Amino acid sequence: MEAGRGLEAVVDVAVERVKRLGKGLVLGLGTGRTSTAFIRRLAEAAEPGMLEAIIPTSIQAEEAAARLGFKVGSLYNFGEVDIYVDSFDQCSRSGDVVKGMGGALAREKLLTTLARTVLLIGTEEKLSEKLTAPIPLEALPPAAPAVARLIQMRGWRVGLKESEGKAGPVITDNGNVLMLAELGVVEEPARIEVELKMLPGVVEVGIFPNRGYKVIIGMNDGTVREIT
Ligand code: A5P
Repeated sequence: MEAGRGLEAVVDVAVERVKRLGKGLVLGLGTGRTSTAFIRRLAEAAEPGMLEAIIPTSIQAEEAAARLGFKVGSLYNFGEVDIYVDSFDQCSRSGDVVKGMGGALAREKLLTTLARTVLLIGTEEKLSEKLTAPIPLEALPPAAPAVARLIQMRGWRVGLKESEGKAGPVITDNGNVLMLAELGVVEEPARIEVELKMLPGVVEVGIFPNRGYKVIIGMNDGTVREIT
């Protein structure tokens, strides 16, 4: 109930920020419950001509956008993305985030890199002093044992993320496996992101050091807090 107030408040702020950008927007849409709440609210509030197209980061986002009547595009026909809206699994006080528990991290990283404005929204329980959450990694299936060994050699724990539906690991929309690495406190997100990304077979890493992203948190009391 309390988290619900934070979610509602932060989603409303995100919708207002998008509306301020004008008409004919190309909007990148993240994956997960928060992004779904956002796109539902945007569908209620959008004025005619406001959205040119939505670029989704997963089948889930694509289905939600299409069902709500938005035109779904791809980077083949919309090379420029005005704004990207998404959530995260954990956010540090300095606005670095961990993302990808839903398996959409590769396309999420692409859109955070491409979009002119990146707006990341979340609720209070996702806020942490530092990044401590398990780090999702997308890896090529045959490389997973080697990726695990290379990560263990650095003294960290790692494993496949078990699916809650099908038997076995989570398979991403790109046909890769999702892994989770437990690194403890991530003191230098940018350095660790590169170190993990350099491992052969790793497609993407769920550490998103803040590269000018706007991060807004919906608090349990219904107020919102701008982190960056
Ligand atoms: C998807 O791969 C993730 O990056 C999501 O953005 C993240 O897990 C947040 O999801 P929820 O909005 O469902 O908490």
